[in-house]
Amino acid sequence: MAKDIFIIGAGTYGAVIADLAEVCGYSVSGFYDDDSSKVGKTILGKRVLGKLDCAKDIHAKANYAVAIGDNSVRILKLKEIIEGNGKIPVLIHPKAEISKYARIGKACIIHALTYIWTEAEIGDFSIVSPEVIVAHHTKVGEGCFIANGCRVGAGINIAERVFIGMGATVMTGVKKIGRDAIIGAGSVVTKDVGTESVVAGVPAKLVRKVDKV
Ligand SMILES: CC(C)(COP(=O)(O)OP(=O)(O)OC[C@H]1O[C@@H](n2cnc3c(N)ncnc32)[C@H](O)[C@@H]1OP(=O)(O)O)[C@@H](O)C(=O)NCCC(=O)NCCS
Repeated sequence: MAKDIFIIGAGTYGAVIADLAEVCGYSVSGFYDDDSSKVGKTILGKRVLGKLDCAKDIHAKANYAVAIGDNSVRILKLKEIIEGNGKIPVLIHPKAEISKYARIGKACIIHALTYIWTEAEIGDFSIVSPEVIVAHHTKVGEGCFIANGCRVGAGINIAERVFIGMGATVMTGVKKIGRDAIIGAGSVVTKDVGTESVVAGVPAKLVRKVDKV
């Protein structure tokens, strides 16, 4: 029998993660969202049950998936759920290809047609979107988001909470992408990227530093 799962985040990405959870053999029991205007609505035929605190308080020991793209917000929410005794299964689409020598961390989400090569590592709480390649011996840190169609070369050290925009390429030969860096869509990264740097273009150049909140 399918195991129940709740989806945190009732936006369009919530629908995507619900779809993935079903493909992975879960039965979606409903959604939670901070936005009270979404409560009572349905997504893919399942109800938005309430605000996020309800999930933590009421459903300890239940399964959850967090459909939030923003890395810092997602990590915070995942940690709250774990502290509240909720479980966060790793969701890997059956059509993703994961080397038996790769390591996928806790609470990761790996979408279809992605290929994680030999001895690559995906850090806890990370999301890897469809049609991404993470080449061999590359380490992706905690809480990263790699968008659709990215190509990440071999032997690269990607720090925590890095966001790689859709279709970007990080070339083999790059050693390090610093924590909280953002790589623009379609960029080709040819050199190391500093902490909290926003880079974009071909070749990628510094656009600005990340705004502090
Ligand atoms: C890189 C990015 C974060 C920059 O956003 P921003 O800080 O708001 O920057 P702006 O839009 O003000 O653009 C700043 C400059 O960078 C350029 N630029 C922005 N994104 C670029 C990109 N992806 N490639 C090349 N140049 C880019 C702009 O043309 C602009 O140049 P100018 O100053 O010469 O006019 C954003 O454009 C981006 O690519 N985000 C990723 C989106 C994505 O992949 N989402 C996936 C969702 S699943």
